[in-house]
Amino acid sequence: MCGIVGAVSRSGAVLEGLLDGLRKLEYRGYDSCGVAMFDPGLANGAVQIRRKVGRLTELEKLLADGALGAARAGIGHTRWATHGKPSDENAHPHTDGSGRMALVHNGIIENYLELRAELTADGAVFRSETDTEVLTHLVGRELARGKSLLDAVRASLRRVQGYYAIAVMALENGPDGKAAARLVCARQGPPLVVAATPEIGLCGSDVLALLKYTRDVVFVEDGDIVELAPGRIAITDFDGKAVARPVRHVDWDEEAASKGGFPHHMLKEIHEQPDVLARTAFDRILQVEGDVDFEGAGFDDARLRAIERIQVVACGTALHAGMIGKYLIENLAGVAVDCDFASEFRYREPVLAPRSAVLAISQSGETADTLAAMRLARERGLAPLSICNVQGSTVVRESEGVILTHAGPEIGVASTKAFVAQVIASYLLAVRLGRARGKLSVEQGRELLDELRRLRPRLEGLITEKTVERVRSIAVKHLKAKGFFFLGRGVNFPVALEGALKLKEISYVHAEGYAAGEMKHGPIALIEPGMPIVVINSPGRVADKVRSNIEQVKARGGHVISIGADEQSHALADESIPVPASSEWLSPLLNVVPLQLFAYHHALARGCDIDKPRNLAKSVTVE
Ligand code: F6R
Repeated sequence: MCGIVGAVSRSGAVLEGLLDGLRKLEYRGYDSCGVAMFDPGLANGAVQIRRKVGRLTELEKLLADGALGAARAGIGHTRWATHGKPSDENAHPHTDGSGRMALVHNGIIENYLELRAELTADGAVFRSETDTEVLTHLVGRELARGKSLLDAVRASLRRVQGYYAIAVMALENGPDGKAAARLVCARQGPPLVVAATPEIGLCGSDVLALLKYTRDVVFVEDGDIVELAPGRIAITDFDGKAVARPVRHVDWDEEAASKGGFPHHMLKEIHEQPDVLARTAFDRILQVEGDVDFEGAGFDDARLRAIERIQVVACGTALHAGMIGKYLIENLAGVAVDCDFASEFRYREPVLAPRSAVLAISQSGETADTLAAMRLARERGLAPLSICNVQGSTVVRESEGVILTHAGPEIGVASTKAFVAQVIASYLLAVRLGRARGKLSVEQGRELLDELRRLRPRLEGLITEKTVERVRSIAVKHLKAKGFFFLGRGVNFPVALEGALKLKEISYVHAEGYAAGEMKHGPIALIEPGMPIVVINSPGRVADKVRSNIEQVKARGGHVISIGADEQSHALADESIPVPASSEWLSPLLNVVPLQLFAYHHALARGCDIDKPRNLAKSVTVE
């Protein structure tokens, strides 16, 4: 994971812009951070490095002396440790000790031990435990041999195995003998975006880091090496051949990435969900035809009729959305769906039915396992489709058909609104597939889409002070619980998994999501008197089965917290959080909201860092 930024300006100072970019990228990793800056005005004329373990605020304290405030070029990094513990020494940027170059890296250098031995034998002195530092010394060695920065980076990257997004800054002497900073970046795997205005050349791991300057960006592809200068982006491949990449205009703005008055991004993102529904769905609904219109190719009748099976690949919360999608697509469109953890799919020998499509689901569009699974399926001949939130991301670029979720930037590490958007997109896909394949009539299509429209006021009605307070009071009552079960069946089984995941990741409490009908096959042994058991149940084909499961849990002394629209479950439960009624197929979208709020308030009461939970990072671009 990790976030990288870089800037080289014609005449202005860049430190504030780099720090702003790092603030936007902190979601990618936040155990340490640093910058390397060049200010031609400083007496010693060297690259200045400041690094600090901990959050960005620690680095800001170090920079408060203003010494680097006028620097015109720099690179920065926010880290999620892979090699070497979080420490000042392991924080990036790294340097070869010459004072003339520095490098930041997101990714993993797999052959670093062998390169480290070679470079040490050659006289290099290593100062960190990171894999990254070998790249620094490789580039430094090439620079010392007289190569330009671009050639030095190219030659060094030829030596490494692994994956990376890097930014390297080095000083080169101009014809006047004065040192000037050059900035080169490259990508093989993790995301990298570049931009140039007449004043400044920029790079970052995510468009969010560049929005302060511009919304016209270029997405760097694998194998690209980019030289940046004010007003100039020069992209070449490993052989030095020029490569053309389009400039894309992104519609996110800085406001969308702010907290908008909420104490945490996660809470803001939970509150945004009714609008996310409108943005993801409403413009795509064809009311008269009872159908859905997806922009771009990939979802026309002929293609969808040719698909006999769908393989969903995704990770974490996105996989839970895919599991809900399985119920929707199988029931509404009659197409078989398999779901797999992308990390498992990519390393087994998947036997894939002919005429299948692979559906990758990803908020970021950069998750390493999801991308690898999608590429494997594509190599085996499956049409690549995706549901993704980030325009221009790798998943989007490698898909034949994309449903963009339009949830806006999701900054909270715990995914909320992106999940809701992924479920909505799956629902739309199920309707489109059902209509294209003749499984749904015009009337049925209209009814399903009407239901979706009617969901917005219900979602709004759910995220009110009254419900939030009810959820909060129940969540804080169970602060001493040793563990939680989350149970559901049918389309609400993945919702139970998601509720448990949310609680685990932000409050660090053990929580297990389970198919309610499976409890009796083992896990019921864990139930002790008073143990909180969150049961999700809404009217539908399995509602009475879930009620029986509630009885079984109660008979063993479990403390049942019932969530959903099933009144009879509430009557059986010790505590309840009612949600508005909806069709069975849309009930996950309502039921997940109290679960998100439950995790939020439980974590808040435990004093956890909501938006930056320990050990996690938002975009998992390493294996
Ligand atoms: C959990 C969470 C993760 C992500 C997973 C996939 O709250 O955010 O489980 O869902 O890492 O990420 P994307 O969707 O970016 O591929």
